[in-house]
Amino acid sequence: MPIPVILDCDPGHDDAFNILLAAAHPAVRLLGITTVAGNQTVEKTTLNARRVCTVAGVEGVPIAAGMARPLYGDGIVARNIHGESGLDGAVFGEPTVPVDGRDAVTFLRDTLRDHPAPVTLVPTGPLTNIATFLRAHPELGGRIERIVLMGGSTGRGNRTPAAEFNMAADPEAADIVLRSGLPVTMIGLNVSHKAPATPDVVARLDALGTPLGRMCTDLLSYVGATYREVFGFPAPPLHDALTVAHLIDPDLITLVRAHVAVELTGAHTRGATVVDLDGVTGAPPNAYVGVDVNVPAFWDLVVDAVRTLSSPAPS
Ligand code: RIB
Ligand code: CA
Repeated sequence: MPIPVILDCDPGHDDAFNILLAAAHPAVRLLGITTVAGNQTVEKTTLNARRVCTVAGVEGVPIAAGMARPLYGDGIVARNIHGESGLDGAVFGEPTVPVDGRDAVTFLRDTLRDHPAPVTLVPTGPLTNIATFLRAHPELGGRIERIVLMGGSTGRGNRTPAAEFNMAADPEAADIVLRSGLPVTMIGLNVSHKAPATPDVVARLDALGTPLGRMCTDLLSYVGATYREVFGFPAPPLHDALTVAHLIDPDLITLVRAHVAVELTGAHTRGATVVDLDGVTGAPPNAYVGVDVNVPAFWDLVVDAVRTLSSPAPS
């Protein structure tokens, strides 16, 4: 039985690959995509979701735009990684996939209320939409099967030395989600940094010889350059794609139960996820936390998804 999923994302190069995985694999039924301000403004992340779905031929999946700024304070963007458009590196025509008439929270309300089974939420950007939805519709919490999010880390951050970008962008929203009592799985940098898109992965995508494969290699070329420049990484991680990959293959990522707290007030640590891996605080675990990944199996899923969605290059 396919898993009913809503992606909540801020495309973003890695969010784009997560959309492809969710659209391609029969284990997932993609009910919709909600977008949020994060890597870029919500206007840009929404346009990027439409662009990716257009190139991939993903039709009939609603795309609903969400919150433009975090619950408190001003937003941040990741222009240094994802560029001015939020999806720099590939050339896109005018998207043919429309934006839904509803905002993200309304779309979440309608879909969770009306879908015949509980839905899995897969947030891969700041958690602003999810937190806003949980505040507005507590009566629909039971319609959420689980939340599988990309964010945080059991170790260092990437927006600050302590905080990963999605958590740093809206710490209060992350705190609301982690305190919600809902089944949360957190896949953080400590896992995603183990699975960089190395040249052999790029070569496999290039060998597909299709427009979608070309979009993927163009995006990887751009984000590979920014990851080299900013972090000195030889190859870029595709953080977000690990979330749907985990849904497709539950054995792909090793999880442990732990208490995760979000730091809200630290002068130097605001947005940090404090993961009590050893249970030293006595706080009851509130999340499954990723600690390892089967890297070859992950990339097989990604390449297979692009192949599945690829239409042959025009002769
Ligand atoms: O820190 C990585 C995360 O922040 C990813 O989701 C990336 O797309 C950005 O949103
Ligand atoms: Ca993201």
